[in-house]
Amino acid sequence: MRPLLKWAGGKRQLLPALRRCYPAAFDRYVEPFVGSGAVFFDLDAGGRLDGRRVRLADVNADLIGCYRAVRDDPDAVIGALRALEQEHRARGADCFYDVRDGRFNPARASLGARCGTHGAGMAAAYTPALAAMFIYLNRTGYNGLFRLNRNGGFNVPAGRYTEPRICEPDHIRSVARALARDRVVLHCGPFDEVLAGVGRGDFVYCDPPYAPLSRTACFAHYTAGGFGPLDQRRLQTAVVAAARRGASVVVSNSSAPDIEAAYAAPEARAAGLTVQRVPARRAINSLAARRGPVDELVITNAQTSGPLRMARVDPARRRTKTA
Ligand SMILES: C[S@@+](CC[C@H](N)C(=O)[O-])C[C@H]1O[C@@H](n2cnc3c(N)ncnc32)[C@H](O)[C@@H]1O
Repeated sequence: MRPLLKWAGGKRQLLPALRRCYPAAFDRYVEPFVGSGAVFFDLDAGGRLDGRRVRLADVNADLIGCYRAVRDDPDAVIGALRALEQEHRARGADCFYDVRDGRFNPARASLGARCGTHGAGMAAAYTPALAAMFIYLNRTGYNGLFRLNRNGGFNVPAGRYTEPRICEPDHIRSVARALARDRVVLHCGPFDEVLAGVGRGDFVYCDPPYAPLSRTACFAHYTAGGFGPLDQRRLQTAVVAAARRGASVVVSNSSAPDIEAAYAAPEARAAGLTVQRVPARRAINSLAARRGPVDELVITNAQTSGPLRMARVDPARRRTKTA
């Protein structure tokens, strides 16, 4: 199943490589950086989560709040999103800025004043109306980015889509069903909290914000604080500890030299982790190709045979300006 949201660093292209690392047997699936949940939805669609416990987590309160609202009241989210879609068809970018600045940000600010702008409180109080606005802004905003200014306001500009897909009721209901399984837990919090409780029988997939390949490289800031070298180091320590406790672990990251070195270090190898380089697919004639494709790393204690590969990208699809 397709994820509900577009998300910077979404992992659909890497799925063929990641699937090769899914363990044959596990009791619980844990994803501490869930984002748009490409791997969760892939596992769910393949029936791999049937009867199993699942813990999906992210530090982004809007994201977890939106998933909870969709899970708990999909019809209310669909109703509000349908109204936004009609308004967007009539007013385009004017509607986007009106929703962003006149409705979404004020509603978030008043929720934040009551529950705090970060963390569990805000996620728990998210309403279907806010979730619908979040989905609308995600599907019509620039590249599906989520970015907050210093005052905590969402400040992504409008995207340039001719026919954005805004409200897809059947898709929203399928997402709600996947999230509403009685053993799926949605948690808003930092990765350390989640990884601390992971051990034998767990399958953990970690997809943190990628380490930049150079000092000047542009990379996604999903949170006000960003995700710096210290966070990457804390994650490596937590992943090694989880592997030593017997969890099946998969991590994706950029091929930045620090990351490669951290997971090739003796303590990581002793925990059974190996680092595999996944060559980027060349997208002919696309802007991405001109910038030069970049390899990614998959770090795992799963037994894989042969090199891991990405999905093929159709350059024509990349150029299409639809959501
Ligand atoms: C690369 S994205 C994950 C993309 C996801 N695999 C997908 O398919 O869309 C990284 C995610 O980590 C989250 N994040 C950033 N810092 C975090 C932290 N300290 N703890 C937990 N999640 C964090 C971001 O909000 C973002 O959703």
